[in-house]
Amino acid sequence: EKGGWPSFMAKEVAEQPDAVANTIRGRIQGDAVVIPELDGLDELFIGINRVIITACGTASYAALVGKYAIEQWARVPVDVELAHEFRYRDPVIGDDTLVVSISQSGETMDTLMAVKYARERGARTLSVCNTQGATIPRESDAVVYTHAGPEVAVASTKAFSAQITALLLLGLHMGRVRGTLTSAVASDAVAELQSLPEKVAQVLAEETEHVSQLAGWMADTRSVLFLGRHVGFPIALEGALKLKEISYIHAEGFAAGELKHGPIALIEPGQPVFVIVPSPRHSSLVHSKVVSNIQEIRARGARVIVVAEEGDAAVLPYADEVIRIPLTGALFEPLLAVVPLQIFAMALATAKGLDVDQPRNLAKSVTVE
Ligand code: F6R
Repeated sequence: EKGGWPSFMAKEVAEQPDAVANTIRGRIQGDAVVIPELDGLDELFIGINRVIITACGTASYAALVGKYAIEQWARVPVDVELAHEFRYRDPVIGDDTLVVSISQSGETMDTLMAVKYARERGARTLSVCNTQGATIPRESDAVVYTHAGPEVAVASTKAFSAQITALLLLGLHMGRVRGTLTSAVASDAVAELQSLPEKVAQVLAEETEHVSQLAGWMADTRSVLFLGRHVGFPIALEGALKLKEISYIHAEGFAAGELKHGPIALIEPGQPVFVIVPSPRHSSLVHSKVVSNIQEIRARGARVIVVAEEGDAAVLPYADEVIRIPLTGALFEPLLAVVPLQIFAMALATAKGLDVDQPRNLAKSVTVE
């Protein structure tokens, strides 16, 4: 039950520190990530030449974060394929391909059919799933469960955070097995993982009221854009999807670098734009590119709301609103940056008097193609 929360979604957003902690639990040994369920698969991880991650909707955005993490740590090329597109062409897959599926419910028909298709063509399959014993994990060679607990609200929140966490763990596990991870990188990542639940809790504690107020002021907004670069890009996509789903406001997420290739034409005075700003500590180049994207849209009158690391002062001259997240590793930022976007969507829907748990036209589990 809701346990005093106004909605299941509010409860599930607040449960994210636990979703992340429970997904990590039992998967760290000393300074290394060891996923016990993947025992005996070392040869598989060493032998593969390619990973395809397949999923739908929010899970496909977690997949995009997973692509960056697995490529960086395990040095194997990763493609992300929407499950419903994957199966209806003639993809190049074989026994050197690992197909990772991601599904909260484990019952999404599109994703299930993609897994079966991959298996029939000789690929090895691994599922990341939140539901014990669901169909997709049963149809896969291996499974890494996310431990977000049951997700009731139609819009996925804590399951998304748990999916990203599981993919970070998978990337670190594969990197260790493949010998592509230095022990310094591995132990930094482990320390970072262990501090994440507390940092997610910090974002919830420090930004919920601010972001909810912001949403209240924006209840009449007709369109919101979201921009991100690197792992901020999938978070921009997720922020836009949450807003569409539960507040019925037109929203789009873009890779910030795409702006000048088209979307900048949408910017007119007053257009709200969320920008996920990567930490300047990881790459001053990527950071400065995003700051110049912000300058470009601000010059055209956009109302700029940035999600930026604490202490990042470079964004201040150009931002109408600043939402702060704690310092973390580059690949871990999505787990912090997504939280204010979930709160924003939820507060805006609430301000419009909508039922955030049961948005129109949507079902929790999509068991038809
Ligand atoms: C968005 C949402 C959907 C699901 C998608 C996949 O909030 O909930 O986009 O993420 O339908 O569902 P699962 O993960 O159950 O396969």
